[in-house]
Amino acid sequence: MWLKRDDLIDAVVTGNKWRKLRYLLPDAQRAGAATLLTFGGAYSNHVRAVAAAGRRYGFATVGVIRGEERPTNPALKAAAADGMQLYYLDRATYRRKHAPDVLDALRRTFGDFYLVPEGGTTVHAVRGCAEAIGEIDVPFDTVVCPVGTGGTLAGLAAGLGPGQDAIGFSVLRGARSLDGDVDRLHREALGRSLGNWRIDHRFHCGGFARSTPALAEFCADFGGRHGFTPDRVYVGKMLYGLFRMVADGELPAGRRVVALITGSEPGPTSAASIVQT
Ligand SMILES: Cc1ncc(COP(=O)(O)O)c(C=O)c1O
Repeated sequence: MWLKRDDLIDAVVTGNKWRKLRYLLPDAQRAGAATLLTFGGAYSNHVRAVAAAGRRYGFATVGVIRGEERPTNPALKAAAADGMQLYYLDRATYRRKHAPDVLDALRRTFGDFYLVPEGGTTVHAVRGCAEAIGEIDVPFDTVVCPVGTGGTLAGLAAGLGPGQDAIGFSVLRGARSLDGDVDRLHREALGRSLGNWRIDHRFHCGGFARSTPALAEFCADFGGRHGFTPDRVYVGKMLYGLFRMVADGELPAGRRVVALITGSEPGPTSAASIVQT
């Protein structure tokens, strides 16, 4: 098994965040957009990454945050420090965030904007994430990644060659709709479905941002052995699931696996520059 350390791309616009934005930002520029508007929870690394990318690439940014309370936490403080306007939507309205009336109200408040969906998953994300495969310079059979919205997995599958496959580990409980979401992304981005990927739904450890003692122990043990401690929200669940599958003999012996480290907790500043990949 190899780890592909996409978490080292940048301190903030890192991992799959950068891969999802790298073709979206030029598209927004081509569309003549001055403002990017996106959605996320109060601890969203995606919101923080859009704020940092907006500042670096000359866009104003608006972050629409789920929940009416106005928490102050490092992610939101950093986004505000990068010039992002933060706007809070009650949970009921947030669930309908892509409905025309909600978007119209946001346009009346903020003027015209380029919409970056929650999690940054678009056809541009598929193209950007597919590029990770071309950077892997060891022969491999299977690539694995965590799954939140499915954009990263859709991209990896799109970049694979013959005989290779992708397994995504869902970090959400019972989110079966993700399978349809990935397929829809393929049809939108490539014009066809792909049969070289699947999502394993068993290792959510209680649901999004939930953990179990076994997961916590696994992450700490992995850190002690390999000098890299995975986060428990995304990468930890992927590695935990993968190791369980290996232990249970679910992967054929000799299968060469690359695990994509899609990110980590961002560093304290957003000033570091993007490493062009
Ligand atoms: C570190 C990390 N890994 C994986 C994901 C999930 O990626 P996707 O939403 O493309 O499935 C996220 C969320 O965007 C993330 O922050």
